[in-house]
Amino acid sequence: SNVENGSVKWESPSNIALVKYWGKRENQIPENPSISFTLSNCKTITEVTYTKKEGDNFSFDVIFEGQINEAFKPKIQTFFERIEAYVPFLRDFHFKIETSNTFPHSSGIASSASGMSALALCLMSIECSLSELEVNESYFNKKASFLARLGSGSACRSVEGELVVWGNNKSTESSDLFGVKFTEDIHPNFKDYQDAILLVDKGEKQVSSTVGHKLMFSHPFAEKRFEQAHEHLAELKDVLISGNQKRFIEIVESEALTLHAMMMTSMPYFILMKPNTLEIINKIWQFRVETGSNICFTLDAGANVHVLFPKAEADKVYEFIKTELVAYCQNGHYICDTVGKGAKKL
Ligand code: PMV
Repeated sequence: SNVENGSVKWESPSNIALVKYWGKRENQIPENPSISFTLSNCKTITEVTYTKKEGDNFSFDVIFEGQINEAFKPKIQTFFERIEAYVPFLRDFHFKIETSNTFPHSSGIASSASGMSALALCLMSIECSLSELEVNESYFNKKASFLARLGSGSACRSVEGELVVWGNNKSTESSDLFGVKFTEDIHPNFKDYQDAILLVDKGEKQVSSTVGHKLMFSHPFAEKRFEQAHEHLAELKDVLISGNQKRFIEIVESEALTLHAMMMTSMPYFILMKPNTLEIINKIWQFRVETGSNICFTLDAGANVHVLFPKAEADKVYEFIKTELVAYCQNGHYICDTVGKGAKKL
């Protein structure tokens, strides 16, 4: 190609797993399948400017929220090494990677899913410009998700929406190599779902997900857990179609607690919940009993609580959050999000 330079820009959202990915093999192959809601407000916006260069090294600068950032460089270097076999032009250009998040930097919300998927999508757009080939959307998304997976496993679920499955499973046409959009007709009960992210603890993660996944290698309950994830995914798929809210709540909350149970029963062991995490969970359970709400919670690998609920209950639930739950959030901070349709080219 004789293209010398150019620039591309993507925004990509975060996602929240309903059935959790926890445990991986070589090359970011998951030990069990997972499914997530793609979010919409929590996202990363990334612009990549590329300029032809001489020499055989990787060359890139990272500008995070307007400032040169050295801290992200090793992660991106590793990412480039992992994907270079699939992105042959990586050594031919210098890349200026300008990136920012819509959610606060120190919020304890992981930006690896939105960040790695946004970068993967930019690289795919560059590949298309360089090869001057017409690429269909399905191939584009599949390869972007494949590359994103090599950056951060869960990032492969951020390219599309509203639900994405990742990992081989006999009940879905999914793959270990990339995320695929859940294409069955979702029951109206689960359309436009809401996610209020309660920021209980904005501190640095106690356990990186890299370390966390590794703990599943010698974990006494690993095999049973992986089996359960397969079963939960198969059942959740039916639940999403049938609209069974009671069972949705049971599976989603059980998945969150199981993720934390795996961390509590590994060697070394960790407790990632904080007292306020448990206060919030108990309040949610109480509210459900008292009002018949379909509210439920999920957790990622930290203390923050994702409160999930149907759009029809939004007024009632936000009132509950403001009067009862905000007190347990650090500086009263929470983020209102909804299920979204995936990444967008800007
Ligand atoms: O993508 P990673 O390697 O950061 O792993 C994320 C794992 C969880 O967020 C805890 C669960 C999930 O499926 O997203």
